[in-house]
Amino acid sequence: MSIYDVVPVTVGDYRRRARRRLPRFLFDYLDGAANDEVTAAANESDFGRYHLLQRVLRDVDGVSTASTLAGREVNMPLALAPVGMAGMYACRGEAQGARAAQRAGIPFTLSTLGICTLEEVAATGRAPWFQLYMLRDRAIVEKLLARAAAAGCDTLLFTVDLPVAGMRLRDYRNGMLGGGIPGKLSYLAQLATSPAWALDVGIRGKPHCIGNLRDVVPDPDDLDAYKAFIDQQFDPTVTWEDIAWLRGIWKGKLYIKGVLEVDDARAAVDTGADGLVVSNHGGRQLDGVASSISKLGAIGAALGEQTEILLDGGIRSGIDLAKALALGADGVLMGRPWVYALAAGGEDAVASLLDVLQRELLVAMALLGIRSIDEFSPELIEELAQ
Ligand code: FNR
Repeated sequence: MSIYDVVPVTVGDYRRRARRRLPRFLFDYLDGAANDEVTAAANESDFGRYHLLQRVLRDVDGVSTASTLAGREVNMPLALAPVGMAGMYACRGEAQGARAAQRAGIPFTLSTLGICTLEEVAATGRAPWFQLYMLRDRAIVEKLLARAAAAGCDTLLFTVDLPVAGMRLRDYRNGMLGGGIPGKLSYLAQLATSPAWALDVGIRGKPHCIGNLRDVVPDPDDLDAYKAFIDQQFDPTVTWEDIAWLRGIWKGKLYIKGVLEVDDARAAVDTGADGLVVSNHGGRQLDGVASSISKLGAIGAALGEQTEILLDGGIRSGIDLAKALALGADGVLMGRPWVYALAAGGEDAVASLLDVLQRELLVAMALLGIRSIDEFSPELIEELAQ
């Protein structure tokens, strides 16, 4: 490093680096959201609607960010969120993300649509949490869950806010969706725009396939057929009754991801779920719904005593994390930021980002006058008048 270099520190720093490095269609797939991206923007900006309350002259020696999530001890109450195809952003991308999460002492979540398989990610040392999309062919789901259990996964996040895919217009513009340009051609044509990235990912003209489903598609090397298979497998008929079925075959912890309304949160608890994730899928589904942070308080007040409540959407710093904890979350997930860092600098970059986030949380706690995560309460935060 020379005296002219600047080290990336914040999520914004990693985002800028990722943008420079990635082919545009890939940056946009990660960074983008549904329609006008209003909800995605609000996920971040609505954290500004809340002010933390600084307290002074309290003994804050020995502040600790340690906590538990889904029964697991963690160094801070943060998990890396499932991001489909994150493995496109660096060589063996999900395995790198999982190793960084282990270094930080937090859980990593592998998407159904991960490029790396469950087994590959579990082999990094600690089994990930697994995220499930319900597929029409329940036999495939059963097999996936059996593989997850065999790999040592103890926690399943069942994502319920994607009965159909949201309208991600950047992906349409870039020819990834909408049938304008066949997917395969689109990938290959755009590799040329960023050879450094292509080399890194090890693609060299051969697009990666989604590892977890590789063995169930007719021809995993035909990307167009592959995409068509996955598209028609997403099951829009799923209802609360399917959760009972899931409970029957999944013996580990079950979290319902993608809940925004108190009634749905209550229904999730009634199905026997161990927890829920207040989430609007990072604004990638129904544009125009409220930010997740603005929905947290009501859900926390109604159900905080009965279940574990996680939140995702817009977490970009340890300060955001502190605000979510004060508003009633037991922990948070973070999606785009870890993949920006992965694209910018692989495992080490993700680990550095997590280190900064933990320090930010620690400093915030000391300045709030608290020493442990269980001291977070709504008394540490106020909402600005409208
Ligand atoms: C996602 N998300 C997601 N969620 C899920 O349950 N399964 C998945 O496969 C994916 N895939 C995915 C891809 C990309 C590119 C993004 C950005 C997001 C949603 C994710 O888990 C999480 O809910 C949001 O990313 C949280 O918002 P932030 O942290 O990105 O603002």
